[in-house]
Amino acid sequence: MSKRLGILLSGRGSNFIAIADSVAAGRLDVEIAVVISNRADAPGLLAAHSRGLNAVLLPSRGMEREAYDRQLAAEIRKNNVDLICLAGYLRLLSPWFIREFPMRILNIHPSLLPAFPGLDAQRQALEHGVKFSGCTVHYVDEGLDSGPIIQQAVVPVLEGDTLEALSARILREEHRIYSEAIGLLTGGKRILGSGSV
Ligand code: GRF
Repeated sequence: MSKRLGILLSGRGSNFIAIADSVAAGRLDVEIAVVISNRADAPGLLAAHSRGLNAVLLPSRGMEREAYDRQLAAEIRKNNVDLICLAGYLRLLSPWFIREFPMRILNIHPSLLPAFPGLDAQRQALEHGVKFSGCTVHYVDEGLDSGPIIQQAVVPVLEGDTLEALSARILREEHRIYSEAIGLLTGGKRILGSGSV
């Protein structure tokens, strides 16, 4: 039986769309069980809805972190989710939530971790003058972008690169490797001794 994904997003949702395209094209054998946004105006939520997916709005504004995450966990359990994928989810998860789903939460980050964790990773890369950057799919643990790495892709930083140009080059690779990593994990391959979901 296909593994069931729960996608959490807050904005544009291009990584979600890339995953949904991989599923629709038959390149990825998973089911998108639910797409949850904490923001009503997230374009990704609308995209999920218009694809006929189970798109759920759980507004987080003004809510205490763990109280919100308990709602989130209930929605995830209700949908029998096997693997949670953060895709531009702009809210820190509580330690409680992370402990509830050990090695079951993935994130994509626009740098070659452990370099440049946190916000504005592409800007950090440009400011440091690195010659290569890229993106990383990793498990979420209680640290900042610090969980075990699953997949990475490298892109060159070119002379005269702007933030927009570098971000777009990285984003193309994000769209490719997120689906790849999900396929690897849900296909039953053993990663870092953790087994598959
Ligand atoms: C991506 O750059 C991702 O690496 C980061 O947030 C951005 C989300 O973009 N975590 P999108 O909403 O998937 O288009």
